[in-house]
Amino acid sequence: MKKIGVLTSGGDAPGMNAAVRAVTRTAIKKGLSVMGIYRGFQGLLNGDVAELNIRSVSDIMHRGGTMLYSARCDEFRYQEGVKKGADKCREYGIDAIVVIGGDGSFRGAADLSLYGIPCMGIPGTIDNDIGMTEYTIGYDTAMNTAMELVDKLRDTMQSLDRCSVVEVMGHRAGYIALNTGIACGATYIITKEMPYSVKEIIEIIENTQTNNKHHFIVVVSEGIGGSAEIAKQIERETGVVTRATILGHVQRGGSPTVRDRVAASQLGHFAVELLMNGIENRVVGFWDNKVVHYDIKEALSMKKDFDKKLFEVASDISF
Ligand code: F6P
Repeated sequence: MKKIGVLTSGGDAPGMNAAVRAVTRTAIKKGLSVMGIYRGFQGLLNGDVAELNIRSVSDIMHRGGTMLYSARCDEFRYQEGVKKGADKCREYGIDAIVVIGGDGSFRGAADLSLYGIPCMGIPGTIDNDIGMTEYTIGYDTAMNTAMELVDKLRDTMQSLDRCSVVEVMGHRAGYIALNTGIACGATYIITKEMPYSVKEIIEIIENTQTNNKHHFIVVVSEGIGGSAEIAKQIERETGVVTRATILGHVQRGGSPTVRDRVAASQLGHFAVELLMNGIENRVVGFWDNKVVHYDIKEALSMKKDFDKKLFEVASDISF
């Protein structure tokens, strides 16, 4: 192996830059050359590639977003697109590709490997929804951003004795909602993984009011949706003025936390080490705080348990 490519794909995540840096520097240190592929698989198809050197990845560690840009690529959903991607790799002499992204990106990587281009996946998504790893790059930063924003909502809700229904990202997974909810002392957390009822929220608000509490936070996971409707129902039935807020894409930005920078550096380094040892078509991640790797296809089929005990903690201390 002489030359590898690196790309970021799908939704960007804080820490992706640290992963690109680690991949690039580890590879160069081990004698490989590195091609940066800009704008994900779409960039590969468009020939949007340029060689990276050790200074190309300077001063990016602390920046949100991704210096390689990102994209969601429809063409790569089809065999023809994937085949063209493999041909492009051969044209540029790219022997293997490191793909930093989420499950959609790993599906692209798995397909590319079938056309003879070895791939290595690094989980970069704020959603933490990749089954084979306990942690994905960007998750910690996104949770901290959500926490800061919900804290600000609390200030104004408390001043006016109001209720805030706040929707956080997470795609179909409730991990950001659960952790942000606990960290912000939410009265109620709604996720897809656990049963919920708006009637129960209303009862809790009514009971808690008799106990001298008059402001409330309800955290809703994106996968549920309907925050505005939930807010209206709460206001109608409790009389507490309720506002719905969707935090949205602001959760994807910002300078990555220590945890994200370090995790990204470890995974980037590990991914290149594996490739150098002839281990290919894997996804790297963490289990029990140790780096692990799984076959891409297997990784895509793995499910992660929702932490029901943590959910119980939230319910037991939220009144
Ligand atoms: O996967 C990251 C994520 O931010 C999800 O939480 C969210 O569902 C999705 O991306 C939003 O995608 P887009 O940026 O295409 O609107």
